[in-house]
Amino acid sequence: MLQVDSLVKQFRIRTGPVDAVRGVSFSVASGEILAFLGPNGAGKTTTIKMTAGLIRPDEGAIYIDGINLSTGRNGAVGRIGAVLEGSRNLYWRLTVLENLLYWGTMRRVPYRQARIRAFDLLEQVGLLDRAHSTVQTLSRGMQQKVSLCQALMHRPTVLLLDEPTLGLDFESSEGIKHMVQALAAAGTAILLTTHQLDIAQQLSHRVAMIRDGHLILEGITTDILEKYSKPMYSLVTPIPWPLHLVDAARKTVKDVTLISPDTLQLLPEDEDVDAIYRLLNVLHPHPLLRVERHQADLAEVFQQVMAKGVLA
Ligand SMILES: Nc1ncnc2c1ncn2[C@@H]1O[C@H](COP(=O)(O)OP(=O)(O)O)[C@@H](O)[C@H]1O
Ligand SMILES: [Mg+2]
Repeated sequence: MLQVDSLVKQFRIRTGPVDAVRGVSFSVASGEILAFLGPNGAGKTTTIKMTAGLIRPDEGAIYIDGINLSTGRNGAVGRIGAVLEGSRNLYWRLTVLENLLYWGTMRRVPYRQARIRAFDLLEQVGLLDRAHSTVQTLSRGMQQKVSLCQALMHRPTVLLLDEPTLGLDFESSEGIKHMVQALAAAGTAILLTTHQLDIAQQLSHRVAMIRDGHLILEGITTDILEKYSKPMYSLVTPIPWPLHLVDAARKTVKDVTLISPDTLQLLPEDEDVDAIYRLLNVLHPHPLLRVERHQADLAEVFQQVMAKGVLA
């Protein structure tokens, strides 16, 4: 299993220091999928790179199966597989098979075994017929699948996935989802970042949300959904909500968030059955396209958490 303890990372660039990660801790047990969520620039990739042993944290420690990554390097790093953003771990001029064998042997898998493993993985992702194609001739979805196969060549116990389905078509992204589920079922600990919150909701056992380098919400996915699955309203207008109206609405009903220029969201306090009517009074007579009542899903919880900070 993976344990990440109080990671801190600052980048020093020309314009001054950037605090990318400011004390992030979490753990992922064997067989568990943790969705690691946050807006762009929150510090997800930096955390993943530190966890994969690619960049060194300023502070904090990472343990893989209880072994400290920075001291027990060979043993611990060898238990990690990582798919980084944009298939950057592949050599574009080498064939699919060459990439897998190269990586496998780097990770000390004996050559014969690496070949068997490579063909087995390519079969699982439906790319057996592309084994001898160079990576640059594959579609983006295929490349992403090869990246995943490569990360699995040495049978890691911890798998780090940074946006594994970004920009993929439906079929490719379903294929990767199923493989991720199967790997977790077989006991792999999986850390997954994605902007596709529906995928995060379907796959994850637990969720951790990060903003500005801090973890601001962490918990079991179903608990979080239950906790926030209070009735919720979206008020959609055909023309953007004027900011003075948004301010007036906030003064009258406090749990209002502008989630896009044309959509106001209301998550009333328990028992406040009147909130929606007070809100409509304030907004009158601005034109309304529709008012919807629904239960919160992970995408809505995410928006609420990011707009307001910690909700717990
Ligand atoms: N190599 C780097 N040099 C300087 N700043 C960086 C570097 N990598 C990331 N950052 C900065 O660190 C912050 C976190 O970035 P990142 O971890 O990529 O976020 P995320 O993956 O959540 O979008 C951002 O402000 C980003 O600009
Ligand atoms: Mg990133």
